[in-house]
Amino acid sequence: MDRIAIIGGARLNGEIPVSGAKNSAIKLMAASLLTDEPLRLTNMPRLADTRFLGKLLMRLGVSVTESDGADGQQTLLHAPEITSGFAPYELVSQMRASFNVLGPLIARTGQAKVSLPGGCTIGARPVDLHLQALEALGAKIDLHEGYVYAQAPRGLQGAEITFPIVSVGATEHAMLAAVLAQGTTVLHNAACEPELIDLQECLNAMGAKVEGAGTSTVTITGVARLHGATHSVIPDRIEMGTYAVAAAMAGGEVRLTKARPGLIDSLLDKLEEAGCGVERTADGVIIRRNVERLKAVDIETAAFPGFATDLQAQFMALMTVADGESRIRETIFENRFMHAPELMRLGADISVSGGEARVRGVSQLEGAEVMATDLRASVSLVIAGLVARGETTVSRIYHLDRGFERLEEKLTACGAQVRRIQGDGEPEL
Ligand code: EPZ
Repeated sequence: MDRIAIIGGARLNGEIPVSGAKNSAIKLMAASLLTDEPLRLTNMPRLADTRFLGKLLMRLGVSVTESDGADGQQTLLHAPEITSGFAPYELVSQMRASFNVLGPLIARTGQAKVSLPGGCTIGARPVDLHLQALEALGAKIDLHEGYVYAQAPRGLQGAEITFPIVSVGATEHAMLAAVLAQGTTVLHNAACEPELIDLQECLNAMGAKVEGAGTSTVTITGVARLHGATHSVIPDRIEMGTYAVAAAMAGGEVRLTKARPGLIDSLLDKLEEAGCGVERTADGVIIRRNVERLKAVDIETAAFPGFATDLQAQFMALMTVADGESRIRETIFENRFMHAPELMRLGADISVSGGEARVRGVSQLEGAEVMATDLRASVSLVIAGLVARGETTVSRIYHLDRGFERLEEKLTACGAQVRRIQGDGEPEL
């Protein structure tokens, strides 16, 4: 399997264009199941996850055509007919977000059989809230042998749904199902993440009537059918935040473009507090680090607009070389410190207790062989490698390929020494 090797020590100087958001693109792709007309998504990232979901959608009857033209990367999705309502375990277990085809399938055809996704390395990640929302909309749900069997032969009905905890995926799933329900659906305690607003805009361009996304109450007035549309995927705030942290780590000056700085204010505020220069621009942000060492600062992850859990690992990497002790609290997922022992292999001084990590900054990391455990953890190791003395090799980078488009290219364009080592076909143990 492929690995990434990083020689630490180079400063980063240059420009990095931010790609379309993975976590929005995969929900927007699922929306193509809701109409028999084509949905054209522009500003599409080309990632393992989008390719993977494309494969599942093709099995359900969607034609998926990628093109790279003057208008950038696009994907055309067209489902004139749903030819299968079956999403098998081997596909859903590899990418949890595949589970979000369930709601659109029930909404369009009145039935579906979709595998339960199972847990993953960052936590148990149940889907009870997704299923409760679909049941509230009138779907009859049965669970057998790891599969969800769903039926709504007379269509879904609008409902008032109050989520007991905030869930991005469950809010998106309820929106994707309720757009074709009869009557009005109101989602209370909805997630407010920017990807929800992107989904609302795409669904409305398809003829849906959704309002309130980005607030805790979303109202969906069901319509009888949706039509085709063209929609541009929102910039990836986690990718933007990751490169902002990389620039703060390596030093130098990096301009992030094709982005929206307002989407990562909580991170930018923390970078400023640590002593980093942050200049917001019309389409992104410039990150400058001229001081020798940043100050340690504390963070606590929270739902948007709080500090994103998907940036926690990267920030921990930054704090490993900061001056002083940083406390990092993870409140969204119960097991999201898998990167800590790997960072310790590079010489970081970290202790983890429950949902809190204490990171005591060291003056120098040392290159070592480390292993990626999930998508964001793997990029935190690359960031640490940017300043570690000598060479750091990150294995199992298929995690990285799920969510970062052309990572080596974007970093080397700014002067980093990062290269991909092609695998020899030997599986990693
Ligand atoms: C999305 O996951 C993102 N994934 C995650 O990014 C992100 O970390 C997370 O939102 C929080 O921002 C995608 O968009 C594909 P949740 P999601 O439902 O929707 C619990 C990445 O690296 N919960 O908001 O699965 C759950 O266990 C990924 O790109 C239930 O208990 O997150 C968690 O503790 C990782 N029951 C909390 O809610 C449910 O039915 C929030 O999860 C659903 C969730």
